[in-house]
Amino acid sequence: MLALAAARLGFDVAVLDPAPDAPAARVAAKAIAAEYDDPAALALLAQISDAITFEFENVPAAAIQTLADLGAAVAPSGRALAISQDRLAEKTFLNAAGAPTVAFAAVGGPADLAEALKRHGAPLLVKSRQGGYDGKGQAWLERADDIDAVWRAAGAVPAIAETPAGFDRELSVIAARGRSGEVAVYPLGENRHVGGVLRQTTAPARTTPAVQSQAEQIAVTLLAALDYVGVIGIELFEQRGGGLLVNEFAPRVHNSGHWTLDGCEVDQFEQHIRAVAGWPLGPTRALARVEMTNLLGDEIDAWQALAAEANARLWLYGKTEARPGRKMGHVNRLGPLDP
Ligand SMILES: Nc1ncnc2c1ncn2[C@@H]1O[C@H](COP(=O)(O)OP(=O)(O)O)[C@@H](O)[C@H]1O
Ligand SMILES: [Mg+2]
Repeated sequence: MLALAAARLGFDVAVLDPAPDAPAARVAAKAIAAEYDDPAALALLAQISDAITFEFENVPAAAIQTLADLGAAVAPSGRALAISQDRLAEKTFLNAAGAPTVAFAAVGGPADLAEALKRHGAPLLVKSRQGGYDGKGQAWLERADDIDAVWRAAGAVPAIAETPAGFDRELSVIAARGRSGEVAVYPLGENRHVGGVLRQTTAPARTTPAVQSQAEQIAVTLLAALDYVGVIGIELFEQRGGGLLVNEFAPRVHNSGHWTLDGCEVDQFEQHIRAVAGWPLGPTRALARVEMTNLLGDEIDAWQALAAEANARLWLYGKTEARPGRKMGHVNRLGPLDP
């Protein structure tokens, strides 16, 4: 979707991806099939590119730093990526920047879980510090008896233990910062997760101006603190009685921003290309209310019925294998904005 947006703006896109059948390679001018940290591939990419970005947060941050060291205009920065890749560094950074989060503790082993239980009480959500996505590498700790099992369930790797967010609903804010520091913020999305995986986003979320403005404030603060260029996705918990906590941020276009493809004049993908290419940012207001539903695994088999819906727009990613739970595409259903 980034490659499509870039092509429409007149750019030729080169894609570096270890998979020869990478979805983006189907719609790009050039594909380089190599590991993300392959020195020769990175050198080639730096040499042929006017600007470089990434859309997967498990690219090694060192690879982004290598590109920067080669003189490439790479954005977002390796620093923003590195912070987002470590849940402990991320939450520490968020709090230091003034963004509230749940209470948390660093976990190096089962003994730290016992300590965290004493300090914060039960339950605690234990998450691996690195490599997790779609709820993977996470387990709830309910009682001291389960410490060893939960430590193993979260991967038996350095982790973070979080207190429960106690949220009414999950929201997210998609925002962008350009090379000259200007910021554009989209209306909030309301997200429904099932089993740690995003099922559905409805946007613009029905909310109050106070909540929208708190989210905008959080976005502006984080973008500045990260000296960020590009689109960022910030996941939020709306607490009972109002007030937002930040769950995590993704230094890239975000699944909960896919509604903008059909709901906004300039969607998150074009916005990201504009930002990293040094163009002016575009408008972010909503033209429709969109319900975005992810198509997971074999749900994509319903493509014909979905394509026949008058108010639905179907996005299929061209992934070759529909493994269970894998995000294969999404459908945006459009309705009118509230008067
Ligand atoms: N501290 C928490 N309290 C309650 N629910 C949580 C907490 N942290 C995460 N969750 C739930 O788990 C989902 C996935 O967790 P998240 O930290 O966003 O990891 P991932 O990187 O897998 O998206 C969240 O969207 C939310 O539904
Ligand atoms: Mg998340």
